[in-house]
Amino acid sequence: MPRSGREVILGIGGGIAAYKACDLLRRLQDAGFLVTVVPTPAALNFVGSATWEALSGRRVYSQVWENVPDVAHVALAEKANYILIAPATADLIARLAHGRADDLLTNVVLASDVPKILVPAMHPNMWRNQATQANVTTLRSRGFHIIDPDIGRLTGPDSGVGRFPETGRILKEFYELIGYLDDLKGKRILVTAGGTREAIDPVRYIGNRSSGKQGFAIAQAAIARGAEVHLIAANCNLPDIPGVAMTSVESASELERALAREFPSADALIMCAAVADARPVQTSDRKIKKEFLTEISLVANPDLLASLKASKKPGQRIIGFAAETQDLESNATVKLTGKGLDLIYVNDVSQGAIFGSDFTSGIIIDKTGPLLTLDNVSKDTLAHVLLDQLLRQIG
Ligand code: CTP
Repeated sequence: MPRSGREVILGIGGGIAAYKACDLLRRLQDAGFLVTVVPTPAALNFVGSATWEALSGRRVYSQVWENVPDVAHVALAEKANYILIAPATADLIARLAHGRADDLLTNVVLASDVPKILVPAMHPNMWRNQATQANVTTLRSRGFHIIDPDIGRLTGPDSGVGRFPETGRILKEFYELIGYLDDLKGKRILVTAGGTREAIDPVRYIGNRSSGKQGFAIAQAAIARGAEVHLIAANCNLPDIPGVAMTSVESASELERALAREFPSADALIMCAAVADARPVQTSDRKIKKEFLTEISLVANPDLLASLKASKKPGQRIIGFAAETQDLESNATVKLTGKGLDLIYVNDVSQGAIFGSDFTSGIIIDKTGPLLTLDNVSKDTLAHVLLDQLLRQIG
């Protein structure tokens, strides 16, 4: 099965700006990218492997000799969707321009045919040096994208051109290059999050373990990508997201009414909320005394997604979620078909996994079958991967 499409190799050259790349790594992760850090041996003088491993959650190597059985340079090159090298020093730029392969990073670059982005950072004299400029011209002619260094204070008393750009600028240029910035502009995305509560009396309710984190991550990702986002939140104890229109609901019937209002004008619905399948036949206005709380008669709630199927217009897309403890693929496929979905993400919730966590593992399935398997990725990553798949479907 193909990978997520969001694998980035973050190459780190041996310059002091290596420490700023720690923030870059974090922001890439927030944007749903899965990052493997490959520092040059010199870069480890500034920031050590322990920092990169702790931040990325992945093993970090800088030499081809460290992980020989895995043939790391080929494995990394095959896995990557993008290679971003920040900072790129004068020496690293020279080695890349000459096709050298004398550490893991330069081997990976040679073995890979994906987009490569360099963020040079060095002293102005080194940047303006004809040798460096010639090397940069060579790399540009070979398709490398160069993010020009900033002008400003450098290490020591000097200032000039050669400063490592602010993280925001690097990300903006990176996103523009890979076509990710504002790629949902003009789309109206409706997201539901959390879990409904069905009141038994003023104190008690039937609920579920959904925290709302996944739905909020999707809303956050969609707004960052330029969509117009409406989030219907069912009992989520999470801060509002700037720019996202919010409706708060408690029960399945309130959620149903909110969907009836918002779905007709949406291009896509991402139905993350866990809807209680049943509610008490009667809700008591007064707290039921414990001696009378011996049984609760239930009536089924409507299946909200299945009911929307009839009103779905051509061009509208619906992504559903499934929480399963067994036979993930077959159970989810039944829901995909039965509820008229375009895509479903099924996660394995056995032993209380996923609920409340910042990480998720599961399978994305469409009408053709399983598309992607995600193994312990952040909910931010899943959010972006689902939006990538949605865009693929919208065309
Ligand atoms: N869903 C819904 N209305 C319901 C129950 C679920 O719209 N009454 C939606 C959920 O928001 C989710 C998808 O259907 O996107 C699958 O939910 P899930 O709880 O996994 O499945 P159920 O249909 O409730 O089936 P079961 O509980 O038997 O697994």
